[in-house]
Amino acid sequence: MVMNKQILLKSRPLGKPTSGNFEIVTTPVVLVKEGELLVHAKYISVDPYMRGRMSDAKSYVPPFEVGKAIEGSVIARVTQSRHQDFKVGDAVLGRLKWQEIQTIDAEKVTKLDNNIAPLSYYLGILGMPGLTAYFGLLDIGKPIAGETVIISGAAGAVGIVVGQIARIKGCRVLGITGSDEKKAYLINKLKFEDGINYKTSDSIEGAIAKACPGGVDIYYDNVGGEISDAVIGHINKGARIVLCGQISLYNDIETPAGPRPQPTLLKKSALMQGFLVNNFASRFPEGTRQLTQWLVEGKLSYEETIIKGFEKLPEAFIGLFEGRNTGKLLVETE
Ligand SMILES: NC(=O)c1ccc[n+]([C@@H]2O[C@H](COP(=O)([O-])OP(=O)(O)OC[C@H]3O[C@@H](n4cnc5c(N)ncnc54)[C@H](OP(=O)(O)O)[C@@H]3O)[C@@H](O)[C@H]2O)c1
Repeated sequence: MVMNKQILLKSRPLGKPTSGNFEIVTTPVVLVKEGELLVHAKYISVDPYMRGRMSDAKSYVPPFEVGKAIEGSVIARVTQSRHQDFKVGDAVLGRLKWQEIQTIDAEKVTKLDNNIAPLSYYLGILGMPGLTAYFGLLDIGKPIAGETVIISGAAGAVGIVVGQIARIKGCRVLGITGSDEKKAYLINKLKFEDGINYKTSDSIEGAIAKACPGGVDIYYDNVGGEISDAVIGHINKGARIVLCGQISLYNDIETPAGPRPQPTLLKKSALMQGFLVNNFASRFPEGTRQLTQWLVEGKLSYEETIIKGFEKLPEAFIGLFEGRNTGKLLVETE
């Protein structure tokens, strides 16, 4: 019997997740039936939304069950196929278990073409984070050339794509991030106008005022909390606030009371709109086609932080809350 490793949610995190919330177990591999595939995980994505699934609070996706394998986006290689559309060696993408080897329903995965871009890109710029950047910025932010766009979580998987699309659209782009290295990457590599290191800045408010003397037209919010409070104080009339993520609040046990933004939104006739990338599911082919074209034309550059070793998955996931990544964070199995 073939055995392999699986990672379970051992307990629900209280506050920031720890390695103790996860457990690695050995499980037997189930035989492949008609219509199924045996696949070996190659790249496994860790994403901030998974923190929400680790709690039992009601949300837009059901919680992970304690004692069961965690699941998320995985790119895997087919090693046995009992489905006519797949052959051994094919690369597939699907919502799979955090498991080295698994038997899956072939209808639940998509075949990938690695002639266009490296396979791992389908977990980032050509996958869910890239599409999140694309639709959030273009459909809600509606950038106009010459406008000022500020992005929090700017050096992460979504942020780096938002900033580059905003530049393609002729905007002035500023990024808020958590280290000087990331700030330098945004300015030097991605050609952002400027950046703010929120961890070392004496006053984020003051830094935003200095970086955006003409105010903020679009705020693409990946983090929420005090950073967003500071940005919202600087929005222009008719500003658009794209509520993409609130990672600074995901580990909070109590909901913090913050400044109430409604008077500012009212006075500035501003729009603040939340969204889930899946709202745009019917248009994913459009988004993927455009992102691929920009990538092939060299208009988008891309960055990944790849941690090697299946057993490092919990550590990698926790790393999202420590700013361990520049660009997309993922784990490559060895
Ligand atoms: N609406 C949707 O459908 C959708 C889809 C995908 C993602 N999202 C959201 O978009 C955001 C970005 O996702 P991503 O995949 O691109 O993640 P990511 O930015 O690649 O990784 C998370 C980053 O967040 C920053 N961060 C962590 N804790 C923070 C805190 N307390 N305060 C400020 N920054 C903090 C860290 O960077 P620093 O070093 O800069 O601190 C970290 O590297 C997340 O909030 C996620 O939930 C939403």
